[in-house]
Amino acid sequence: MSRKIHFGLHPYGVGGPGQDNLWKDPSIAKNASVDINYYIAQAKLAEAGLFDAFFIVDSQFINASYPAHYLNRLEPLTLLSAVATHTTNIGLVATASSTYNSPFNLARRVASLDHISGGRAGWNVVTSFDSQVSKNFGLDEHLDYATRYGRALEFVEVARGLWDSYEDDAFPADVERGVFLDPTKLHALNHVGEHFKIAGPLNLSRSPQGQPVIFQSGVSEDGRNLGAHIAEGIFAPGESFEQARDYYADLKRRAAALGRNPDHIVILIHGNPIVASTDEEAQARSREIFDEDNDFDRKLGFLGRAFGAYDFSQHDLDGPFPDLTHLTERGGRRAADLVRLAIESGWTLRQTVEFASAYKPSPFVGSPETVADTIQTWFEGRAIDGINLAFRLTEDLERFIDSVVPILQRRGLYRSEYESDTLRGNLGLPIPVNRYSAAAGSESAWQPADELTSV
Ligand SMILES: Cc1cc2nc3c(=O)[nH]c(=O)nc-3n(C[C@H](O)[C@H](O)[C@H](O)COP(=O)(O)O)c2cc1C
Repeated sequence: MSRKIHFGLHPYGVGGPGQDNLWKDPSIAKNASVDINYYIAQAKLAEAGLFDAFFIVDSQFINASYPAHYLNRLEPLTLLSAVATHTTNIGLVATASSTYNSPFNLARRVASLDHISGGRAGWNVVTSFDSQVSKNFGLDEHLDYATRYGRALEFVEVARGLWDSYEDDAFPADVERGVFLDPTKLHALNHVGEHFKIAGPLNLSRSPQGQPVIFQSGVSEDGRNLGAHIAEGIFAPGESFEQARDYYADLKRRAAALGRNPDHIVILIHGNPIVASTDEEAQARSREIFDEDNDFDRKLGFLGRAFGAYDFSQHDLDGPFPDLTHLTERGGRRAADLVRLAIESGWTLRQTVEFASAYKPSPFVGSPETVADTIQTWFEGRAIDGINLAFRLTEDLERFIDSVVPILQRRGLYRSEYESDTLRGNLGLPIPVNRYSAAAGSESAWQPADELTSV
């Protein structure tokens, strides 16, 4: 079968990063981010557009400077369990932190979503970007990068071990013989590692897709190594074609070096298309949205996120940008690059905020043909396997589905119907063979790693 584009939808309710004034739009319900009916409606639309996944991003720390959607939103697994009962084919991916969860509990909750949805669950593994979140979990400091990523690897391997607790034919439920469970098909993990000691078994069997699909979002060296080890889907930034192509090649090379099939990692970039009748109209709309949303004070506030929720308002806007590199060590290391650039360029705090929040139009702006052409170029140029899409308004999502999707379908690049009713099936990922059945015969898809290898 020929390679096909994959789409996800990540909804931002009343407005995510950069969408500072979106909540004021009359078509947005002021409670959208906590209204389950908003999420159900968005997921149903995405399903009508034959998207692979409905993808919920998340975090567990806020202060008043955070985007409107972050301030007041539903917990992903709870939300998706409700969405599952109103949809049939679309995948349901929940972001959950491996730093601030315990493996048995999270493995059980994700597996429960997998059952509720009939095999459509995915877990986006993050190590948590907001360093101040540690204080919500009894720690004075966020774990350092190496510990966070080492823990993430072990966490996912434990979860996968727990998900294999029952072999697929463990429950004969034979009334005549009085045999509900075949005890030889039930396995305790008995895991003892650097971060966790977990006996198992999990009290939940496998779903129609075997195990939930593992996604990962991370761009640092440690983040890429983790992705290469465990991810079946990646949610990556997609700033330019060149950057996305280099990331794509790098991730697939790292996976291949670990003996994995690079086709079994589906790389989706973040994308927020703006589609209008003509290219000019779309470009004008893109600029207009930027101007509508542009709010300097909120941008100044949110800049602090990567610095552990640092309050930049205590500095003179026209004084030199402060060297806060040490605050990026545990949270967003990429912010250290911004500090370096600001200091080397002699920028003030105001100039640095303006640089960091300057107008950068999405690469996917234009008429339906132009947007379809760009997606095709990126896809065929091996910069992406697909896009995790975000739209400002519901009408923008509808316009994309009604105008861009049919063009991609006519070109044979996008499905005309779902291939499967599981997330794994639609993403073209194999069902992992239960490790205990594999030990008894067929080959297992998973090769557990002892530590995060640099590749
Ligand atoms: C496209 C994308 C989406 C992300 N979504 C989330 C998220 O929903 N929640 C979260 O805590 N971190 C999220 N992250 C942050 C990463 O999990 C990671 O913590 C961050 O990128 C810093 O780690 P890194 O330096 O390895 O990239 C996202 C990152 C990327 C690139």
